[in-house]
Amino acid sequence: MGVLRTLVRTKDVDTVIHQNDEGESHGGGLSKTLTARDLMGFGIGIVIGTGIFTLTGVEAKNQAGPAIVVSFAIAGIISMMAALCYAEVASAVPTAGSSYTYAYTTIGEIFAWIIAWDLVLEFALGAAVVARGWSGYLQSALGLHGSFWDSIMGEGSTVNLGAVFIVLVLGSVAAVGIREAKWVTNALVVTKVAVCLFVIVAGLFFLKMSNLTPFFPKAVPTEGGGEELKQPLWQWVSGVQPSAFGIAGVLVAAAVVFFAYSGFEAVANLGEETKNPGKDMPRGLIGTLLICTFLYLAVSFVITGMVKYTNLDEGAPISEAFKPHIGIAGFLIGLAAVCGLSSVILVDIVAMGRIGYALSRDGLVPESVGRAHPKFRTPFLLTVGTTIVVAVIAAFVTLATLAEMVSIGTLFAFVVVAIAVAVLRRTKPRMERPFRTPQVPLLPIVTALCCFGLMASLAVETWLRFLVWLVIGLVVYFAYGRKHSKLAMGSRGRIPGLHGSVPLDKADGNS
Ligand code: ALA
Repeated sequence: MGVLRTLVRTKDVDTVIHQNDEGESHGGGLSKTLTARDLMGFGIGIVIGTGIFTLTGVEAKNQAGPAIVVSFAIAGIISMMAALCYAEVASAVPTAGSSYTYAYTTIGEIFAWIIAWDLVLEFALGAAVVARGWSGYLQSALGLHGSFWDSIMGEGSTVNLGAVFIVLVLGSVAAVGIREAKWVTNALVVTKVAVCLFVIVAGLFFLKMSNLTPFFPKAVPTEGGGEELKQPLWQWVSGVQPSAFGIAGVLVAAAVVFFAYSGFEAVANLGEETKNPGKDMPRGLIGTLLICTFLYLAVSFVITGMVKYTNLDEGAPISEAFKPHIGIAGFLIGLAAVCGLSSVILVDIVAMGRIGYALSRDGLVPESVGRAHPKFRTPFLLTVGTTIVVAVIAAFVTLATLAEMVSIGTLFAFVVVAIAVAVLRRTKPRMERPFRTPQVPLLPIVTALCCFGLMASLAVETWLRFLVWLVIGLVVYFAYGRKHSKLAMGSRGRIPGLHGSVPLDKADGNS
C-alpha cells in the first residue's frame, strides 16, 4: 500500500458497530433508555461553565463591550449548524468514540488521528480554563481579596494555586474512578440554570441603559507592545490595522466565547444509549444549544447592563456585579459557580482518559498508555499524567489564552465533522441514517466555512501554538501510530485489562 493510501485508510462502519457490540456482550450492554430530555440535561450540564461565568466579563471588557451579546449569538448559530452535522454522523455511526471514530470511518486514519490529538487539546486545556474560572469564583465567594490572595489566585496571579488545587483534587477523583452520581449531576444542572435565570430576572432591576451605550464601542487600535501576534489572523494576513472593539472585536469575542458552547458534541456520543436516535439526537443537540444560547444572550445582556463594560471583573464578573446590590446573592452565585464548574473539570479529565483508551484500542498509541488499572478500572497512568500537565498549564497560562486554544481546537474538529458528513453522503449513499442533516452539501460547507471564519478571528499566536501542537501530533503519528495501527495489521485489537469488563467509553457515558 502506498504511503498516501495508508494515511487515508478507513475503518469499516460495520467493524465499529461490531466492536461496540463486542463490548456490549462483555459488559452487559447499554440499555437504550435516554430520551431527548435526558440528552438535554446531560448537554446543559457540561456546556454551561466558565464560558458564560467568566469569559463574558473578559471579552466584553477587552473586545466587544455590550455587543458581547452579538458575539454569543454568532457563536450560538454556528454551533447550531455544527450540531446538525453531528446529529447525522452520531445517529448513523452509533459509537461512543466521538468525532475521532466518525473521521476514522469516513475520511481516513490520519484525519482521525489529528482529530483525537485535537480533542486531547480541547479537553486538557478546557479543564485548565474551567479550573481558572473556578479559582476566580472561589476567591470572589470567600472574599479572598488582598495582595496575598490576588497573587496566588484569580486572573491577575502569577501562579494560580486555586486552579492547581482543583485540578489535582478532581484528577485524583477521576484516577480512582469515582464518578458523579446521577443526582449530583442533575442537581448541578438545576443549580447552573437557576443561577442564570436568577441573574436574568434579578439583574433586570439594576439595569442602567447608560451602561449599554455605546452598544458597539468604536474600534480602538491595538498596535505596539508585541501586539502583532495578538491580532486576529485575518487582520494580520490582510494588513488591516489591528484593533479591539468595533466589528473586528465582536468577531474576536465570538471566536473566544465559542468556548462557552463547546462540549455539546459530547451529547452525540450517547447515540447508542438513546431510545430513538433519529428523533431524540437532533432534538437533544438542538434543544441543548437553544437553551444555552438563550441563557447566554440574556445573561451577557443583563451583566453588561448592570456594570459598565470597562469596569467588569475579569475573575468573577457575575457575582461581583451583584455584590454592591445584593451581597448575599453575590456570595451564593460564587458558591454555585464553584460547584457547577467542578463537574465540568471532572468531565474533561475523564474524557481525556477515554480518548487514550480509544487510541490504544486502535493501536495508534502504545497499549500501556490506555491500559486500565487492575483495581480502579480507569486509565490510571494516563489520567495521572494528564492531570499533572493540566495542573501546570492551569497554574501559569491565562484563562483567555487557554480559551482561545480550546476554541480553535473545537472549531477545527467541527470543520472535519462537517466535511465528513458531505463525504459520507457520496461514499456511502446507502448507509442507514436515522437523522439526515438538511441541505447537504450546502449546510456542511457553510458550517465548515463559518467555523474557519471564526478560527481566522483568533490571534496569530493561537494559530502558531495550534500548528505546533498539530506538528507534534503528526510526528508522533509517523513515528508510532502509522506502523502500529491495528487497522494496518488487520485486526481489531484488544487492550489487556479492559475487555471482559465495561469498556471505558461506555462506563463514562461521554467523551
Ligand atoms: N462550555 C464549557 C464552558 O463554558 C466548556 O466552560
